[in-house]
Amino acid sequence: MVIFKNVKDIQEYISGKKVAGVRPGFIPTMGALHAGHLSLIAKAREDGMLIICSIFVNPTQFNDKKDFEQYPISVEEDIELLVKAGCDVLFLPSQEEVYPGGQQKAATYDFGYLDTILEGAKRPGHFKGVGQVVARLLEIVQPERLYLGQKDYQQCMVINKLISKMGTDITSVVICPTMREPDGLALSSRNRRLTESQRAVAVTIYQCLVSIESKQKMGSFALVKKECEELLAAKGFDVEYVALANARDLTLLNTYEPGYPMVTLIAARIGEIRLIDNMVLG
Ligand code: PAF
Repeated sequence: MVIFKNVKDIQEYISGKKVAGVRPGFIPTMGALHAGHLSLIAKAREDGMLIICSIFVNPTQFNDKKDFEQYPISVEEDIELLVKAGCDVLFLPSQEEVYPGGQQKAATYDFGYLDTILEGAKRPGHFKGVGQVVARLLEIVQPERLYLGQKDYQQCMVINKLISKMGTDITSVVICPTMREPDGLALSSRNRRLTESQRAVAVTIYQCLVSIESKQKMGSFALVKKECEELLAAKGFDVEYVALANARDLTLLNTYEPGYPMVTLIAARIGEIRLIDNMVLG
């Protein structure tokens, strides 16, 4: 695996590969890698791409300073995992490389409705920061395909919108299924910060998603939502939302709408750790 820390070098390398007919597939990350990230690499390999990963903990997407300061960093371990997973190129830039002259000058995009609901409403400025960094990384890497995890469902939609606004050369955004622990907990870099007792109850989020999914044919969403909120609260969570939405555009739904493809999404805090998860209703 080749590691680049500056923009000029990685751009030269990728351009050379493109001339040789190689197709770049890009996996942006904030490090603290886990099997979810590795599944994106496996998919890119299956697709025959030159696998380019980035590790950059983007300060502009953290609306909570403490969350940024406490974000897990494990670059040495990440590099080992990437090598084992068969990653070809790692981009490991400094803040100055990503935001030369300061982040104020980086482009910003407006995501409209998507920025006003759920994660957008609970984390003001978050998607602006995600848009800013992903736009910059895409400008640097200029991949043919972008690989993202479904765990960040709303983020996937925001990035799709960003790509249509930017008009890049990307021909497809590949969204890979959420990877889970054997008990169902979605893999997340933030799980590392859970204490043993928090980890034991963290699975309740997944159990709630399953319950919302399983009751769609016979239940009232309002009732299931209330049950989930109460269960999460009883387990010690501070619930931010338990929501149901149209899976295509994230229009929020108050009741199950059998005619729509639906997705259920939950965000809740346990102690200082904020967890999110979602499930597309089958
Ligand atoms: O999902 C993430 O890890 C980040 O939001 C991303 C897409 C790498 C942008 O910093």
